Amino acid sequence: MRSQLMTPIAFLNPGAQTAPLREELLRAVTAVIDAGHFILGPNVAALEQEVATFCGAAHGIGVNSGSDALTLALKALDIGPGDEVITTPFTYIAPAESIHQLGAKVVFADIDPRTFTLDAADVARRITPRTKALLPVHLFGQASPLGDLLPLCERHGLSLVEDCAQAIGATWEGRGLAGIGRIGCLSFYPTKNLGADGDGGMCITQDPVLAKKLRMLRVHGIEKRYYHDLHGFNSRLDELQAAILRVKLPHLARWNQRRAEIAARYSAGLAGLPVELPVVAPGNTHVWHVYALLTDRQDALQKHLEAAGIPTLIYYPVPLHLQRCYADQGGQPGDYPVAEAVSRRIQPLPMYPELTDDQVDWVITAIRGFFQ
Ligand SMILES: Cc1ncc(COP(=O)(O)O)c(C=O)c1O
Repeated sequence: MRSQLMTPIAFLNPGAQTAPLREELLRAVTAVIDAGHFILGPNVAALEQEVATFCGAAHGIGVNSGSDALTLALKALDIGPGDEVITTPFTYIAPAESIHQLGAKVVFADIDPRTFTLDAADVARRITPRTKALLPVHLFGQASPLGDLLPLCERHGLSLVEDCAQAIGATWEGRGLAGIGRIGCLSFYPTKNLGADGDGGMCITQDPVLAKKLRMLRVHGIEKRYYHDLHGFNSRLDELQAAILRVKLPHLARWNQRRAEIAARYSAGLAGLPVELPVVAPGNTHVWHVYALLTDRQDALQKHLEAAGIPTLIYYPVPLHLQRCYADQGGQPGDYPVAEAVSRRIQPLPMYPELTDDQVDWVITAIRGFFQ
């Protein structure tokens, strides 16, 4: 039975990580207010270096969201009308939206049924002479199949832009994600593994020329004030968010480790049930932004969990090619059968580092009860 003393389980709980850091966060925020420097100041510069180092890369460029990081990355690579960019239909909409905003064509490729990341063989089939870049999403916290995607980029002269919004701290073949492609894009949305107390994002790159261009693009294309060399954006990270993120960053490795422990506990506790448990692809370390299983009884399981006091959310109920905003592209049911099947079968479970073992066991017990 669930203990009456157990804290209610949330699906996501960004506030829980803030509570123990409250005093430190308030000191950092107060220091910014007292300094009176609010946009692109010393905290942003320091955070850029700290996050780049954490990812094993040379340069970080703070921007105002993960979505903008993607748009600026594609813009820095001169992607625009007439170009095609291949990405996944099974993700949050941001990468497809960024491609579309720049006037390029969004080309979807299907996903792998076990890792939910891009299926490299399907990507290869969809490359045309107009393809300019691949935009894989390192979904739920592990790398897309980089061992296959990188050679495709090499062979066809394509840029690799990594969407690392859900995968900060994850590695492939011992290398930090975000610094492997030409540009990696991070989100600091509050529920991300490293979340700000507001919006924020960052472009990561090893290339000093791209870094300089990204720094110009985020402030209206300027290097020198009021001299606009590029068509840019207003996408600046502010000092308050940078100061908050600098307090949290030293805890990220430990938080990711705790997520891995929770994932292992879920997998051990759910073994033997008629569900497919998540897998980590060879060569990957996983940071478990999301722990999701596959079931043929998605709707009934979700209702059962809700009735047991376990909140749930389905990522992602409608693959992007079937979203109304892409109706003009003519996407039809059946076009991406794996993404569609995963949408119908996926069941993410509560996941945040502050979940206690008792809470995890309660979720396991509820799921076991459903199948018995
Ligand atoms: C895979 C992916 N890419 C990009 C984004 C966009 O990040 P942001 O919300 O910071 O704009 C998200 C955010 O949810 C995401 O999950």
